[in-house]
Amino acid sequence: VKTLGELARQHGRYFGSATDNPEFSDAAYLKILGSEFTSITPGNGMKWYATEPQQGVFDWTNGDQIVNFARRHHQLVRAHTLVWHSQLPDWLTTGTWTAEQLRAILKKHITTEVRHYRRKVYSWDVVNEAFNEDGTYRETLWYNTLGPGYIADALRWAHEADPHAKLYVNDYNIEGIGPKSDAYYDLVKSLKARHVPIDGVGVQGHLALQYGYPATLEANLRRFAGLRVDTAITELDIRMLLPADAGKLATQATWYADVTKACLAVRRCVGITIWDYTDKYSWIPGFFPGEGAALPYDENLQPKPAYDAIRDAL
Ligand code: XIL
Repeated sequence: VKTLGELARQHGRYFGSATDNPEFSDAAYLKILGSEFTSITPGNGMKWYATEPQQGVFDWTNGDQIVNFARRHHQLVRAHTLVWHSQLPDWLTTGTWTAEQLRAILKKHITTEVRHYRRKVYSWDVVNEAFNEDGTYRETLWYNTLGPGYIADALRWAHEADPHAKLYVNDYNIEGIGPKSDAYYDLVKSLKARHVPIDGVGVQGHLALQYGYPATLEANLRRFAGLRVDTAITELDIRMLLPADAGKLATQATWYADVTKACLAVRRCVGITIWDYTDKYSWIPGFFPGEGAALPYDENLQPKPAYDAIRDAL
């Protein structure tokens, strides 16, 4: 029988999973991670706190462990993430920086990290979560100090450091058409008009049964294809209020199938990544108390109805 990755490949897409370094001691987990998926994303290992824990001191241990695993298993790497407001090292958030200093810090971080992984990764989430729900710029360290130009700068520096990597902007709550996804539409349009290197928009896909399915997902992916950029579902999970029951798991399965079909229906939707594959290692219970059961494999690494639904959709 074919794996999710093999089924996706028949459509010219990848099917990937996020993973994290602590999980690398779990042999049963790694067996499925290495066989079922054709792309891997480090859930934390390439974030700023992990890669530049002291100013100018770089640590590739965690990222390398995951990249080496992916290479051994002939998997793509979706690298994540260079510019974000979260999971920054203390030296960066507690320091006071002039715009000139912060620009130099950002350029050095991007250049050093992207060069390190040059030719080893398929794509980079260059800028993560840049907008608020209403489509205004999120007032992060980057925006507040550097202004909106930090996005184009980051993309240009990343492109210079690895001209072959596909460069993405990535966010949550942009599955459907609305003010936040409109902000990305306008951003990409303006970046393209100015010849800034931008290859794709990453739709995270952290969905929750209690908030309803984003019915305009396919139309949204399609309008980005019209701007001549790729799209990808980059962090898919579908959580529910616990306890799970057969009805919720059935609805979840339908949603997983619908997201899969939406991506396959749009030519430039290049692949789907789930935010880890098993409930054993999902980030959801830790971040959304009382919610969980968000992934296609249960805590015992057994496939759930969602797994079969994805297979049937592929
Ligand atoms: C999450 C990780 O999965 C957790 O382990 C970590 O504690 C917090 O970050 N959007 C993103 C991801 O872009 O980087 C986040 O990952 C989940 C939300």
